Amino acid sequence: MVDKETLVEWDKRYLWHPFTQMQDWLAEEPVIIERGEGCYLIDIAGNRYIDGIASMWTNVHGHNHPELNAALKTQIDKIAHTTLLGYSNIPAIQLAQKLVELTPAGLNKVFYSDNGSTAVEVALKIAYQYWQHKKTPQRKLFIHFDNAYHGDTIGAMSVGGIDSFHTTFDSLLFKGIRVSAPETSHPRRAVNTSDNGYAVKTRWLNAMERAHSEHEGQIAGIILEPLIQGAGGMRIAPTGFLKELAAFAKQRETLLIVDEVMTGFGRTGKMWACEHEDVTPDLLCTAKGLAGGYLPLAATLTTDEIYNAFLGEYRDLKTFFHGHTFTGNPLACAVALENIAIFERENLLSQLQPTIEHFRNRLQEFWTLPHVGDVRVCGFAAGVELMKNSDTCTPYSFEEKIGIRVCKETLTRGAILRPLVNTIVLMPPLQISISELDTLLDIVYSSIEIVTNG
Ligand SMILES: Cc1ncc(COP(=O)(O)O)c(C=O)c1O
Repeated sequence: MVDKETLVEWDKRYLWHPFTQMQDWLAEEPVIIERGEGCYLIDIAGNRYIDGIASMWTNVHGHNHPELNAALKTQIDKIAHTTLLGYSNIPAIQLAQKLVELTPAGLNKVFYSDNGSTAVEVALKIAYQYWQHKKTPQRKLFIHFDNAYHGDTIGAMSVGGIDSFHTTFDSLLFKGIRVSAPETSHPRRAVNTSDNGYAVKTRWLNAMERAHSEHEGQIAGIILEPLIQGAGGMRIAPTGFLKELAAFAKQRETLLIVDEVMTGFGRTGKMWACEHEDVTPDLLCTAKGLAGGYLPLAATLTTDEIYNAFLGEYRDLKTFFHGHTFTGNPLACAVALENIAIFERENLLSQLQPTIEHFRNRLQEFWTLPHVGDVRVCGFAAGVELMKNSDTCTPYSFEEKIGIRVCKETLTRGAILRPLVNTIVLMPPLQISISELDTLLDIVYSSIEIVTNG
């Protein structure tokens, strides 16, 4: 067993952490997690922390879950990996059947990959190739949104809309049509942004209309995060926007790609965010919670109409030439099956409703903090935006690192969080108890109070 000091030293010497300024990292003491218990993470010094972000929005039923562990152990005694290229495996087949049953009616085919970005890449490539098979190859452009985040690979970045992540790579990205989100009203007056959005919705839809008519006949698809944009700042779409967008896509005969990587698997209170507005997209991407937060697994689901367009003689080259080595990995698929089985056995989505209600109610208390400029809640995901002056909507500057400072404070009080610049994200495992949730919210509340007063 390597001792704590050596682990810290090796971490700093050998590791390059994602989305991390390593100069800052090297100056600080890292938290090194050794194990998990339910919604707690335990570090190598034995400190316990509530996992307030479900380990980057993935964990569903808690860590070290006996049934998920058992599913993994059972599968590993059979086989860990075998390819889906030209062959098949049992958990991958069973999970595909289950996913078709679970997703909105009409999504009948499952294409696996390993993570959220690849699920999006697959959706974009399927949509792009589909139009070639439909003899309309001029449909090459994707409409996407300001503040959208669909992952870090080149295709996923091309349909993203977060300047600080994406502009560095501008010349690598393919051309799309980025629709600007209009300015929202003063957050302090907007209280719950999902209900204040009539003007926002109208302006978004007008912008879509303009984009579409300027590029008549060239749109391959529209991609969005349904109901809530995650990494772009936990921004909530106006109620009804998704439904209107789906109608818009249908009318213009373009494809709707819904990125449920963050929202899927119960995060919004229903299995899929799409269900809130009764929408069946042409392509749906899922990852993060798919394997309960245990293993990297993703899937892109689509319709018979799209799948059938790829059928043909071998020589016709209609094949979808895309696949990742670990596509349909049996271990990940076996855990995903058990993840879904737990949802069903425990009737988790109904059980979750009072917790969501409690979460939403308790978050309203955050409005009493003078530097809280906005509280955005969607199901079991929330963003608390901090502002230097919340009356004038003056943001904290980037240099003030306010989000980072608050999360450092929560760490000393026993909760692991990760901010999105000035927004504190709350996204605990779905199975967190009400009393654990209260502890988490108390920690966040007092950390904001202390840091912003200081
Ligand atoms: C909506 C959405 N799409 C795609 C991704 C990318 O997923 P991954 O990090 O697994 O590549 C994320 C990750 O946060 C996401 O929130």
